[in-house]
Amino acid sequence: MFPVNKFRTERTPFYYYDMGLLGATLDSIKKAVGDSDFHVHYAVKANANPVILSAVAKSGFGADCVSGGEITAALKSGIPSSKIVYAGVGKSDEEIGMALDARIGCFNVESLEELRLIEAIASDKGVIADVALRVNPNVDAHTHHYITTGLKENKFGIALEMLDEAVEFCRQSSSLRLRGLHFHIGSQITTMDPYVILCDRINKLIAEYDGRGVHFDIVNVGGGLGVDYDHPDRHPIPDFNAYFNTFRKYLNLSEGQQLHFELGRAVVAQCGSLITKVLYVKQGVNKQFAIVDAGMTDLIRPALYQAHHLIQNITSESDEECIYDVVGPVCESSDCFGVDERLPLTSRGDLLALRSAGAYGEAMASHYNLRPYPHTVID
Ligand code: LLP
Repeated sequence: MFPVNKFRTERTPFYYYDMGLLGATLDSIKKAVGDSDFHVHYAVKANANPVILSAVAKSGFGADCVSGGEITAALKSGIPSSKIVYAGVGKSDEEIGMALDARIGCFNVESLEELRLIEAIASDKGVIADVALRVNPNVDAHTHHYITTGLKENKFGIALEMLDEAVEFCRQSSSLRLRGLHFHIGSQITTMDPYVILCDRINKLIAEYDGRGVHFDIVNVGGGLGVDYDHPDRHPIPDFNAYFNTFRKYLNLSEGQQLHFELGRAVVAQCGSLITKVLYVKQGVNKQFAIVDAGMTDLIRPALYQAHHLIQNITSESDEECIYDVVGPVCESSDCFGVDERLPLTSRGDLLALRSAGAYGEAMASHYNLRPYPHTVID
């Protein structure tokens, strides 16, 4: 399945993107959305590679951005500004200004303080800012604590207790247009239960505001749909039907109310692999280490979240299997991709694939140890 011969002549490490799989994933999302008034904004933070962004743009999806840089990249890829939403707890004055100048679709506002700043800048410019208020729904997504975002004492979103004040502020302002409510409960969510709870919270909140004459034309439920890191070949495309059907079934939308989604990982994780070369097979006292030329600077998820990416030796032809710790060259003990990995007999020069690395891989690469950024091979 990998173009191994082509890989042999490439400098390592590199990210390999299977554009056929990305295309099939994008098609599968479109099919699962069908003719519902569902709008998918791809979360650019997952992977901002221009080739990936332009495939997303061609499929007609919008972009969920968290910085001025991401807005610029989304626009450059051909995503229309009206389909760009902008979240983030620390939007700078300059970023708010450029987003207003670009006429983006909506700001997902994370605090009263930010709301006041957007209103001031919009008023200065004589424009109206479309805003959605990001609400902290206090739903436990049962995922790694670093990527849980919907719990109460979290830096993200506006606490429910403060929502009334934010709504009122928008209603009083002639520079703000309150379009909707925004929610995001976390990432790598693999069961639908947290989403069912989220729907229930949203239904209650919207009904309460409806009763007071406040209507929202957009409900944005964020992203978070997970992927199968253990079996990327068995589940190359997430179950988008189950995901969208959960909202169809449990969310009470009124006539003309749009539902927005911000999927990142589910769109791009499985189409990407980090390909790395074995530099040494080092004999320890009780262990063997496969030391590879990719490190936490190329893929930080294992070091940062104790995440595991399936590791495959894609060039060994041996029938014999051995146990290795697969580690990188960076001067940190956390620079380890796998402990006690069972691999075919592995030697210097073999190529390993770290699978499901299309999301939050290349996008989180760093320059630490003055290592160069990984390059990409696109097929
Ligand atoms: N919308 C908002 C407001 C978000 O904060 C995020 C992700 C998304 C959408 C997209 O979530 P996704 O569909 O990709 O789960 N670096 C971590 C993941 C951080 C996610 C941050 N927010 C990782 O590698 O697991």
